Amino acid sequence: MKILFVCLGNICRSPLAKAIMVDKIRKKNLTAEVDSAGFEPFHRGDPADRRSVEVAARHGIDLDHHVARLFTARDFDRFDRIYVMDSINYSDVMGMARSGEDEARVDYILNLVDPGKDLHVPDPWYGGREGFENVFKMLDTACERLAEEIDTKNKSQ
Ligand code: 4NP
Repeated sequence: MKILFVCLGNICRSPLAKAIMVDKIRKKNLTAEVDSAGFEPFHRGDPADRRSVEVAARHGIDLDHHVARLFTARDFDRFDRIYVMDSINYSDVMGMARSGEDEARVDYILNLVDPGKDLHVPDPWYGGREGFENVFKMLDTACERLAEEIDTKNKSQ
C-alpha cells in the first residue's frame, strides 16, 4: 500500500506522521510506502520544524532528513490513500482531484480512529511543545490503526 500524508506547510504534522509510520512499518516488518506533502509554497525545500524533530526524537523516531514538498495532482496516481490533517487540507486536496476515483483516495487521518467524524489534527505551528506532544499522540494512534490494517492485508495476501 502507498500512503501520502498531507498538511499545510509540510513541515510540522505530515512529516511527523510519515516518520511515525515509517518507524511502524520497519518495526512490524510491513510492506508499505509512505510520503508527505503540503500546500504552502513558503516552506518548500525546508526541513521539518524543529519542534516536530524534537518530539519525534523524544519518542525514538528519526525526522532529521525531511525536505518539504508541494502536493501535485500526480500524487493521486502515485498513492492509494491520501490522509489529510484538517478541513483546509481536505479542501485543498479535493480541489485538485480529477475524478471520483481521485476523491475516493482522500480521507481525514483521524477517521482511522473515529470513523466518519472528520476530526482535525490541530495545526501546532503557533503552539508550544505541548501542542506538538498532543499532535504526536493523535498521529501515533492513527498510524497504529493503519499499521494494523496493513498487517492484516499483508498476511492475507
Ligand atoms: P503544518 O504546519 O501544516 O503541520 O506543516 C504549518 C506550518 C507552517 C505554516 C502553516 C502550518 N505556515 O503557514 O507557514
